[in-house]
Amino acid sequence: MTLASGAVACGGSTVAAGERVFRDYHCGDCHSLKAGEDGVGPSLAGVGDRAARASGGAQSARAWLREAVVDPNQTLAGGAHRAHRGGASRMPDSFEAALTPAELQALLDFLQTLP
Ligand code: HEC
Repeated sequence: MTLASGAVACGGSTVAAGERVFRDYHCGDCHSLKAGEDGVGPSLAGVGDRAARASGGAQSARAWLREAVVDPNQTLAGGAHRAHRGGASRMPDSFEAALTPAELQALLDFLQTLP
């Protein structure tokens, strides 16, 4: 398998790879990983637990997180997140196209384990 960026290929667990994806795609420009520190987007501290509560279990938490990342407007329409002026998310909806499947899976592993 060839990975364009090498972000996932270069060793470590998928969680560590996901952390690199988070950095490489500048998620941190809008999201803090510290509880209570909201930026343009909400803090992602404990987002895995939040996803599990919102969606009703660990299995569905992953689907919830996936949707939050690849289709933020859809998640908004479902009412799971904050409402915004004009109904459009300020989170870019370009990540589904930008992330390789391996990068997305690693990113979800990382998000699910955030304390
Ligand atoms: C330009 C700012 C911006 C960037 C860059 C961004 N996000 Fe977001 N994100 C938001 C906003 C704003 C929300 C709040 C919900 C909404 O508007 O849809 C959000 C919501 C989320 C949520 C749902 C959190 C919750 O508790 O509701 C997750 C998960 C998430 N983003 C992950 C990511 C990841 C992973 C990346 C990088 C691949 C990323 N975001 C990049 C702005 C951003």
